[in-house]
Amino acid sequence: SRTPVTVTITGAGGQIGYATMFRIASGAMLGADQPVRLRLLEIPQGMRGAEGAALELADCAFPLLAGVELSDDPGAAFDGANLAMLIGSRPRTAGMERGDLLSANGAIFGPQGRAIGERAADDVRVIVVGNPANTNALIAQQHAPDVPADRFTALTRLDHNRAVGLLAAEAGAPVSDVDGITIWGNHSATQYPDLSDATIAGRAALDVVDADWARGAYIDRVAKRGAEIIEVRGGSSVASAANAAIDHVRDWVLGTGERRTSAAVVSRGEYGVPEGLVSSFPVRSTGGAWEVVEGLAVDAFSRERIGASVAELVSERDAVRELGLLG
Ligand code: NAI
Repeated sequence: SRTPVTVTITGAGGQIGYATMFRIASGAMLGADQPVRLRLLEIPQGMRGAEGAALELADCAFPLLAGVELSDDPGAAFDGANLAMLIGSRPRTAGMERGDLLSANGAIFGPQGRAIGERAADDVRVIVVGNPANTNALIAQQHAPDVPADRFTALTRLDHNRAVGLLAAEAGAPVSDVDGITIWGNHSATQYPDLSDATIAGRAALDVVDADWARGAYIDRVAKRGAEIIEVRGGSSVASAANAAIDHVRDWVLGTGERRTSAAVVSRGEYGVPEGLVSSFPVRSTGGAWEVVEGLAVDAFSRERIGASVAELVSERDAVRELGLLG
């Protein structure tokens, strides 16, 4: 049988961690013939939650689950990790200044990045879910200079999946008919869900749905979907966020084929996005590496929207650099 893959989940005592680990252990992420070993990282206050989840994992008797280990030490948790899912963070709370938010996360993602650099497996792949996800990924990446930069990514797949679902609903088409949507930029209110190159059953999406809707209400609805979920459900997106993180890793590791998706990856300067920023792009994976889909036409409207989101990423990067959080 195959060697288990070691998957480290941070924030394992929290909501998204809980919604993620059972599906990973069932084979939904890496396939029905790939055993997994889970490493759950928490801070002391979150440890009981992670312990409880580990008890439930045992009670599922998953045939693919080769082991579960808990730790509150990043070095131990990332030792030998093949996949690192960085979910735990310090998200913004009411009245919190940006500097405080970034500092609190620098204190989490700097040490975790360093531990990944020192202890993880040579093939380690990292996805950051905890917000502000793009900049947290940048902080972690900067603390692991010996790990190839393209192994650090942030989650914009939830935004992408929301964009697919909302377009399919508007067009009255099955989601499987939709391709070619891009989420550009930051996982924040400035993100740009772009239908310029999208198709529905092979037809240009902008010929199927109203173009004013596509470049107006649609963008707002996707970007504010998280707030809509909180309003309706009385709690933040959890299962859909976990699902998106699993989609991201599965596509990254197993490949997308010709299908396109979106992921925040370290820019090599594609589409004029400054090199080194962790920004969302149109991507495919050949299995193991994300490739930015190049050569798409970008009109003036899209250029402005992408520019605004990238400007926000630049200002976050400059702020964490000034705070000394890039190592
Ligand atoms: P939660 O508050 O239920 O769980 C977070 C857990 O992380 C807590 O158990 C906490 O103890 C733990 N934690 C905090 N610092 C840690 C550290 N240094 N090491 C290990 N664990 C640590 O939050 P939830 O709902 O699970 O969300 C997690 C994060 O995901 C939040 O930052 C949220 O904003 C973000 N998020 C991102 C999305 C995206 O699309 N990128 C979508 C939805 C949520």
